[in-house]
Amino acid sequence: MTERKNMMTLDVPSDSALGINEKGHLTIENWDVVRLAGKYGTPTWIVSDSTIRDNYRRLHKAFNERYPSFSVAFATKANHAPAVTRIMLQEGARIDFVSMGQYHLAKMAGAKPDRLVFNGNNKTLEELETAVSDGIGLINIDSIDELLTVEEICRGLHKRAKINIRIRPAYSKLHDKDPQFVIANTKKNKFGVDIASGQALEACKLAIGMKDVEFVGLHHHVGWSAYGIPYNRMRDLERVKTEVTEVVEFANKVSEKLGVRVSMLDLGGGFRKPRPHLFGPDKVSSIPDINEYAQVITSVIKKEIPHADLPELVIEPGGYIVTDAVTLLSRVGNIKDVKKGIGKGKCVAVDSNAYMFVRKLIFNFYHQTVIANKMLAPLREVVDIVGNTCAYDYVGDKVKVPHIERGDIVATLDQGSYCETISTQYCAIPRPAVVIANKEVTSVIKRRETSEDVAALYAIPDWLDLPAEEDCDSA
Ligand SMILES: Cc1ncc(COP(=O)(O)O)c(C=O)c1O
Repeated sequence: MTERKNMMTLDVPSDSALGINEKGHLTIENWDVVRLAGKYGTPTWIVSDSTIRDNYRRLHKAFNERYPSFSVAFATKANHAPAVTRIMLQEGARIDFVSMGQYHLAKMAGAKPDRLVFNGNNKTLEELETAVSDGIGLINIDSIDELLTVEEICRGLHKRAKINIRIRPAYSKLHDKDPQFVIANTKKNKFGVDIASGQALEACKLAIGMKDVEFVGLHHHVGWSAYGIPYNRMRDLERVKTEVTEVVEFANKVSEKLGVRVSMLDLGGGFRKPRPHLFGPDKVSSIPDINEYAQVITSVIKKEIPHADLPELVIEPGGYIVTDAVTLLSRVGNIKDVKKGIGKGKCVAVDSNAYMFVRKLIFNFYHQTVIANKMLAPLREVVDIVGNTCAYDYVGDKVKVPHIERGDIVATLDQGSYCETISTQYCAIPRPAVVIANKEVTSVIKRRETSEDVAALYAIPDWLDLPAEEDCDSA
């Protein structure tokens, strides 16, 4: 974070690809974003290639240097742009997908089926058939029913599928340690096969006994604990430790009771990069470094499982890799300055909206918003930056800005995860283009949607004919 008095401050991680040039313009990978906005139009998401790679390498190193057999399966739910997946493939990652849409995008990126991990709580018969016949590397099984279906498909297709069983911890030790987590976990029954009721062991037993299915190991998404309960750094590390301990104890139970080694532990994602104000402008945040997470996770596994039997460790990060790698550029249009009364204040409208990054609306995520062409100008006022839908969609709430004018470029940070992938076309507003930048080159990786794209999937049946127009001449 660069501190400058009475000027905008970038709340970014220390290794950010964002900077400020001599003109006082925001830069991404040294590209002046005002020029990028001119070249590609607005709104546009700009992806930083080096940030993705640096994040991946840091995470990979943290686990790899502590554990003998480790790999990353990048979670495309966070960002499914094929160019981003291609970077992950170049870096050596496997790719996690949960739908046929994501599968197609991953194939477009060049992912080989055996590098793919198929997740999801309600995979359809067709999806499972495709996964088995295409030889998808791993299917993370979500229920006993799904396991039986996969077996049947394998038998019918004369193929063998490699599977992990996704388990649902009982969380009892976690709840004993910190009752706050009871609140967070009451709704965690959607995914996986339950340990407490004995179903998870039953699922493993069934899988191990199947001729056409290869039982590889266990899956559990450790996840992110900032939902629902107040976030606390030590509490989060303790939570991860307790959850992983339960998973590892279960793995040992599988080995003891069923006589089969669990050869993979896929612990999902949920990691974030530490930064000054992760949760909001006035909230100084301290979240664990990836090395701390890696230390906690790998020590639990190494403590509980003998060295010779250590399973391969897989992590499925999304947010850690891509969140700070993407910035949304928008342009200021209408400005209203209400001098008194209830609506007093300045309201600055831009050509993007919060439905392009609904994680702000759903999870109340904070996205720092800056005026990209006035980074060194003195701060003058506090404004609301609002979107262009017919809802009260705030792109930036109560943002301290310099004197702001029509045509200024607004940059909204941390748009890399769960933004473009869950963006909507609310009010039939076409979605932004996506452009990737490295130090040498910038390229469009998703073209801007058009109004024709928005209309393309709709149809009007013949029987919905319009009333005949009144013929004025014959009246
Ligand atoms: C099974 C699984 N793996 C990985 C992820 C990625 O999580 P994150 O983006 O928080 O790293 C998720 C997120 O929901 C998930 O459900």
